[in-house]
Amino acid sequence: MRPLFWGRLRTSGRSPSLARPVFWTALVAAAALPGAVLATNPPTCQVVAAQMPGRVIFPSDPAYSAAQSSYYAGQARNMKPGCIFMPTTTDEVSQFVKMVGARNQPDAKFAVRGGGHTLWKGAANIDGGITVDMRLINATVLNADSSVASLGAGGRFGNVYHSLKPHGLTVLGGRVPSIGVGGFLSSGGMTFLSRRHGFACNSVVGYEIVLAGGKVLHVTQDSNPDLWLALKGGINNYGIVTRFDVATYPDKMWYDLVQYNFTDAILADQARVLCNFMKPGPTFDPDAMMGLFLDFAGGAFFVRNALWHTGGDANPLVYKPFTDIPNMGSSGQLLAVADVVDQFGANIPPSTPRAFQLDWSFVNPPAEVYVELFKIWQDGVKALSDVQGFFVEFLTQPQAVVQKGTQSLYGLEAGRTDYVMMLMTAAYANAADDERVRVGITNIVRAQRGLLRRKGYLIDFVYPNYADKSEGVFKSWGADSVAKLQAASLKYDPQGIFQKRVPGGLKVF
Ligand SMILES: Cc1cc2nc3c(=O)[nH]c(=O)nc-3n(C[C@H](O)[C@H](O)[C@H](O)COP(=O)(O)OP(=O)(O)OC[C@H]3O[C@@H](n4cnc5c(N)ncnc54)[C@H](O)[C@@H]3O)c2cc1C
Ligand SMILES: *[C@@H]1O[C@H](CO)[C@@H](O)[C@H](O)[C@H]1NC(C)=O
Ligand SMILES: *[C@@H]1O[C@H](CO)[C@@H](O)[C@H](O)[C@H]1NC(C)=O
Repeated sequence: MRPLFWGRLRTSGRSPSLARPVFWTALVAAAALPGAVLATNPPTCQVVAAQMPGRVIFPSDPAYSAAQSSYYAGQARNMKPGCIFMPTTTDEVSQFVKMVGARNQPDAKFAVRGGGHTLWKGAANIDGGITVDMRLINATVLNADSSVASLGAGGRFGNVYHSLKPHGLTVLGGRVPSIGVGGFLSSGGMTFLSRRHGFACNSVVGYEIVLAGGKVLHVTQDSNPDLWLALKGGINNYGIVTRFDVATYPDKMWYDLVQYNFTDAILADQARVLCNFMKPGPTFDPDAMMGLFLDFAGGAFFVRNALWHTGGDANPLVYKPFTDIPNMGSSGQLLAVADVVDQFGANIPPSTPRAFQLDWSFVNPPAEVYVELFKIWQDGVKALSDVQGFFVEFLTQPQAVVQKGTQSLYGLEAGRTDYVMMLMTAAYANAADDERVRVGITNIVRAQRGLLRRKGYLIDFVYPNYADKSEGVFKSWGADSVAKLQAASLKYDPQGIFQKRVPGGLKVF
């Protein structure tokens, strides 16, 4: 991606040979003047703190370590921002972006943080700059006829669902309580309702965003169609989103979590039933969203199905083939989404010392291909089993059924129901194992993708929310989508503030 970045500087009329030395000169100047900055806190932090007293947290404050420890993975937790800015209003976000963007100092760079669930380093935290922690902007407000909920970008879906539960409503959101609104909705969003309504970003009818320079824009499909589209996957490349206005849906949820013995026979049954479930045609049920979880934990293998249904049916027949496989008991029931998310979330560790994750997508293959994919995983994981604290979750799930128009960026065929997504997440105890786990998991997935490619089922699409930075997410959506993402950046952020001053996350240049 770097060559594109320099190419972009050129197209925006700046000479790269000029832009680079200016930055380095500033760094060298600061280093060459001992004592020029006497206060230990970075100067940009001090300026922000002076303008907005009470909103900036420094490393000596207890709130700083509390904020740091609330990231999901150690990779994000262990970074050291010079300070953390916690805005409470859109206006404060605007003042911040305006002020920091106008400063030329090397410490005038920042990260944008929502729920802090990205696993890899630097997406939502920063070393030495400022982390904009959005969590105090977290209101959930229904409009007059309850058709639209306005979600503060710093909210977490557990709170959002509980706010909507008394109204009998829900929104397209995350499936564990602590996932942040900001990252989830700006990177797609796989939800309980995604077989019927697409990725969660498809349900966003309006964005309130602070652009570079501090301008606050309300973005709808009619007002700014290019930015509206770019925000459905463009994450932090265009500004800081302060509010998402999203469609509401009736809260009609059924949920079961079914565990099976991990045997070759059961895995073959799972493959057969999943393959049938994913076949397009009259048996397709848009209310059915499920996950086939293969886990390696504490040295043992597990297989479970999370079964969700949003049609209001107390006994959804579509899942009978799964629950007909001998299992340890099923107890499906109708529940509010808020409670399903609390229950399901309780199965997933609340945080992890280290983590690594990859995702990929393909067209539903024959059952025997699933069996091979499961086997590659099992063998690969066994070879890594002595990594301390090693836990791996290998999830197969139906892909969101993309809705026409609004999600053209992803390069997926609208309305297609037989796309499947896999993701593999490793969690482990020590940073010393980072390289081993990265290489080990990458090799497992390379073998699996290779198999799918050879057989003609692999598709390019990489889903941003579960991707590692190494996967080339935007590129996987196709050259046309990259061009649209880049054009929107040039138009709404001509100086490239959200490319250069916000170095973390997936960048469109
Ligand atoms: C346990 C667990 C369960 C998960 N379950 C699901 C699931 O069911 N479905 C699914 O699709 N994904 C799921 N994910 C993935 C999750 O959706 C992503 O990690 C998502 O990006 C998290 O959003 P966040 O706000 O918590 O993350 P953060 O790490 O805070 O943010 C993610 C990215 O978004 C940017 N960003 C955040 N807020 C804003 C904003 N206001 N304006 C501009 N940019 C912003 C950040 O800069 C960062 O680059 C899960 C992850 C975990 C760890
Ligand atoms: C918003 O955040 C505050 C501070 O963390 C918290 O006390 C409150 O419960 C949150 N409210 C909602 C609706 O999420
Ligand atoms: C799972 O395996 C155990 C131990 O072999 C056995 O006792 C039990 O009946 C099996 N359960 C099912 C549902 O097959």
